[in-house]
Amino acid sequence: MGAAGKAAGPLSHRRRWYPDVVQQVAPPGTFDLGPGYLDPGLLPVDLLRGAYADALAEFGSAALSYGPNSGALPLRALLADRLGPPCTPDHIMVTSGTSHALHLIATILFRRHDVVLVEQVGYDLGRAILADSGLRLRAVEMDDSGMVPEALERALGAAGDTPAFVYLNPTFHNPTGLLVPSGRRRELLAVAAAYGVPVVEDDAYAEIGLTRSGMPDSMAALSGYRGVIRLGSFSKSLAPGLRLGWLAADPETVARIQAHHVFDSGGSPNHLASLAVTTLLATGAYDRHLTWLRSALRDRRDALAAALSANLPERFVFDRPAGGFFLWVTADGERDERGLVTAARNADVRVLAGGRFGRPARPSVRLAYSFNSPPRLTAAAHRLAAAWKSTERRLPCS
Ligand SMILES: Cc1ncc(COP(=O)(O)O)c(C=O)c1O
Repeated sequence: MGAAGKAAGPLSHRRRWYPDVVQQVAPPGTFDLGPGYLDPGLLPVDLLRGAYADALAEFGSAALSYGPNSGALPLRALLADRLGPPCTPDHIMVTSGTSHALHLIATILFRRHDVVLVEQVGYDLGRAILADSGLRLRAVEMDDSGMVPEALERALGAAGDTPAFVYLNPTFHNPTGLLVPSGRRRELLAVAAAYGVPVVEDDAYAEIGLTRSGMPDSMAALSGYRGVIRLGSFSKSLAPGLRLGWLAADPETVARIQAHHVFDSGGSPNHLASLAVTTLLATGAYDRHLTWLRSALRDRRDALAAALSANLPERFVFDRPAGGFFLWVTADGERDERGLVTAARNADVRVLAGGRFGRPARPSVRLAYSFNSPPRLTAAAHRLAAAWKSTERRLPCS
């Protein structure tokens, strides 16, 4: 009850990160490069306070009603405009985030024991949602451009159960930061379409592009929103506490999902949040916020990348990601991943072992640059470099 007691009185939002109020809190003194969260200082408290007030002023008691099963039309119409033709509001359904959308897809569209093809390494919790829904996961090889089309073809053509769908995260992939190029997206789509197998495109980081160069079209757009279900989220671009996202697919698939009685009973998930975000999209405030957020994240990525480049031992390599929250460091040789994580922990830096995300080809760790300020990321990189240099001295094979 300590947390609730402390929360009484005027709120200073940056200081309210108590264990019973937020999902994860690192021990004091730790540089936490673990979670894919936004830094508390990047969460737009004032912007959202205004957006909720505006939504209540504009929509009145309708904002406090059950929303329509597929989500409020003003939001779906604005999203359809952003996604471009052929998207209409009927292609879109509001969800309470990408996690919720994955659960809906796994349980409404597919059956227990269905096989889902996943990347060799990928979003651990997304895979866990699918596995908990009774789906059987099969990993497909990746290279530097993403899932390998020939390997996908082999997996789809293999004897035994025909896979039910392919789960991909092609834009600023968690954990590697990879942006799958357009050509590879088209190849993967062609293989999936040849076998009549749908693709679920997890695009949680699509808004977090950090370079000025253009973005490839989404796989959904490339397919004309046929055979691809695209998942979007406001967790990474605004705040995860909104619990707000969407899925976009052909209208028949959307209708199948929204026919579930969970929506008849509960209406639109997070209706008030969806109307607050509607006001931000309608006024351009969301796009202004994105410009600011991208610049702040670019500074964070660059601080971490610069300090790692200058200090990491030669055998550690990473690519500077073009977007998203993560930097993926791989080590060559026999270096033991657990040893890297332990050495980091002993230096008070929390990082995640690559093995948590599947079977990386080489020992790897994921570093999130989203959650700490540039000076803290620089300090964390110095600590990591020193800690990993000392493991190197202890390894006879290195
Ligand atoms: C690839 C990916 N998908 C989905 C999510 C979760 O998204 P949401 O907060 O919208 O449920 C995350 C968050 O870490 C993610 O990395």
